[in-house]
Amino acid sequence: MNTIIAQYDNDHRDADLMRRAAQILREGGLVAFPTETVYGLGGDALNPEASARIYAAKGRPSDNPLIVHIADMEALKVLAREIPEKAYRLADHFWPGPLTMILKKTEIVPVQTTGGLDTVAIRMPSHPTAYELIRTSGLYLAAPSANTSGRPSPTEAEHVRQDLDGRIDMIIDSGRVDIGLESTIVDLSGDEPMILRPGYITKAMLEEVIGPVKIDPGLLSGSEDPHMRPKAPGMKYRHYAPKGSLSIVEGKRDAVAETINRLTKEHEEAGHRTAVIASEENQDLYTCERVIDIGSRDHEESIAANLYEVLRQMDEDQIDYIYSESFAGAGLGAAIMNRLLKAAGHKVIRV
Ligand code: TXA
Ligand code: MG
Repeated sequence: MNTIIAQYDNDHRDADLMRRAAQILREGGLVAFPTETVYGLGGDALNPEASARIYAAKGRPSDNPLIVHIADMEALKVLAREIPEKAYRLADHFWPGPLTMILKKTEIVPVQTTGGLDTVAIRMPSHPTAYELIRTSGLYLAAPSANTSGRPSPTEAEHVRQDLDGRIDMIIDSGRVDIGLESTIVDLSGDEPMILRPGYITKAMLEEVIGPVKIDPGLLSGSEDPHMRPKAPGMKYRHYAPKGSLSIVEGKRDAVAETINRLTKEHEEAGHRTAVIASEENQDLYTCERVIDIGSRDHEESIAANLYEVLRQMDEDQIDYIYSESFAGAGLGAAIMNRLLKAAGHKVIRV
């Protein structure tokens, strides 16, 4: 399959291109498009064949459900039933934006889209290209992140091309995304709201609007115990993992630097390609040949925005051993560490 790659500039909108993309989607084809979080791989959410194509293109296990992207509030009632009042309050505050809500699904949503579940994940993205595409197609768009399953999510169109060129119909390129980490997922289908995947919208931000919110205990453990498995099927897979060995080193600043410098020296002397992922503030503490500045601790958004690109870079540079600082923090830190810990297969060195 020849994948069309097209630039779409929101300041000079190309209506023809948008109509062409919409037509592909209406015929059951696949179009990758930017959202404010990461690039998504879109297909008609109500067409089981389109969903099947999404799973095939990504190499994704079919028990891992897709998020349905909408552009207006009417769509919510078409796709979900027994919508609690808290869902409307969250939508009021955070939509359009990086929040996905899990609700009970209506008959109209095929189980191929929900991975066999009786619930559906719904999100109204704020990126103008995503909005245009949903509107022009007149569809609800099932869209997982537009990466090969297991790879870091794409934060620019070039990442999508690397993973999916020749496997999908079109890639719409509107430049780098804003946030760089996938949406916060909150489950509102049960008795108590529960975060299934941390993201840009934090627990504190949700609680300000709807009161107490739990965090899926399965997120924290990284254990193989089936009772502790994450509730979002996608969170149980080892994701985002670079090919080399990634470890996170946690502790006081100087002790972390000392440990990383000792370990990277050993690897370099043994002839291995080695790298350190450090904050802007700390990068000068490291003696390793390759030190990657991932962003500033005073500006967690910059770390979130760079994380996936840095992980992809590690593979491109064929790095064997990677050591990263910890970026735990009160705000976005939870989402950053959730992804980084998964990428590291929960390998943490405490010093
Ligand atoms: O920011 C995002 O959410 C991006 C952009 C493209 O919108 N999309 C995204 O989709 O990250 P994906 O497919 O890569 O991740 C969806 C996650 C998976 O972990 C999946 O298991 C979970 O959402 N999920 C989807 N439907 C669910 C459901 N009904 N119940 C529980 N978890 C669900
Ligand atoms: Mg994904």
